[in-house]
Amino acid sequence: MPAKPVLWITRTLSANTFARARQSYEVVFDEHDEPADSETIIRRSAEVDACIPCHSEHFSADVVAKLNPRLKIIANHSVGVDHCDLDALKAAGIVVTNTPDVLSDATAEIAMLLLLGAARRAAEGDSMVRSGAWTSWSPSFMVGHQVTGKRIGIVGMGKVGQVMARRARGFDMQVHYHNRKRLAAEEEAGAVFHDSLDSLLDVSEYLSLHCPATDTTRGLLDAEAIAKLPDGAIVVNTARGALVDEQALLEAIKVGKLAAVGLDCFVTEPGGNPAFAAHPNIFMLPHIGSATFDTRDAMGYRALDNLDAYFAGDAPGDKLV
Ligand code: DGY
Repeated sequence: MPAKPVLWITRTLSANTFARARQSYEVVFDEHDEPADSETIIRRSAEVDACIPCHSEHFSADVVAKLNPRLKIIANHSVGVDHCDLDALKAAGIVVTNTPDVLSDATAEIAMLLLLGAARRAAEGDSMVRSGAWTSWSPSFMVGHQVTGKRIGIVGMGKVGQVMARRARGFDMQVHYHNRKRLAAEEEAGAVFHDSLDSLLDVSEYLSLHCPATDTTRGLLDAEAIAKLPDGAIVVNTARGALVDEQALLEAIKVGKLAAVGLDCFVTEPGGNPAFAAHPNIFMLPHIGSATFDTRDAMGYRALDNLDAYFAGDAPGDKLV
């Protein structure tokens, strides 16, 4: 029997993923579950045929230049691949895949949670009850912003954006979107297309970001863009921290231009932005958009499907380069 390919799994994936991986691969795994630094990635590349990394492992051009040619495929356990220099990996002849589709529901759930939590002051309310600081009630107490019937602008109408649109419709929100390409009518399902971001910003009482971080989208929500939103808008980001100018976001919260913000991702991760903590109307989560038991299994299986196809001599379904 030919030896199993050696597979490096960089982080603690679901138990079901490990069980399935061990059936077909000799799995290398560092129990300490810390992000692998460049040195580790380069060292491991000489010992393994394949790798399942997460967005916490950075395959920059510098790292890719030092990878050992033994490493043939990087089957990401993520839909986002901004941690991978795809041009460099392509030039090095390394196949790269991701895990689209399977995390759309979980991520849209977290986007909806952030939207509702930011609008209805969930973190403030929870901490008040929890800490015993809830000592009175009046009709003017903890008044928030209604979601039902309002306009939501979705930036990036890919898989996650489309699920978010469906969830928002469940709250009778009027869905508007901006995307590189207009969707077909059945996918649009009545959503209003804006061919420019500016035009979308103009009407977005709520704004939810669902596009990848690329050279064209990095910093798309800067001071100028925020100024175009209606006064008192609420912004949600479950995509990537790099899409937002955090200083501009903070200023907009301070002056009341934005009523509230819901964030699951930050420029600096882990950790987030300590300057946000002083503002109870910034509702924050620690990058857990896809963190459900179902979705973790589905992501792991999708990464393994891609590896299995590659080692069977087929093109992986989610091949990016
Ligand atoms: C993704 O899949 O891109 C999520 O952000 C988790 O890495």
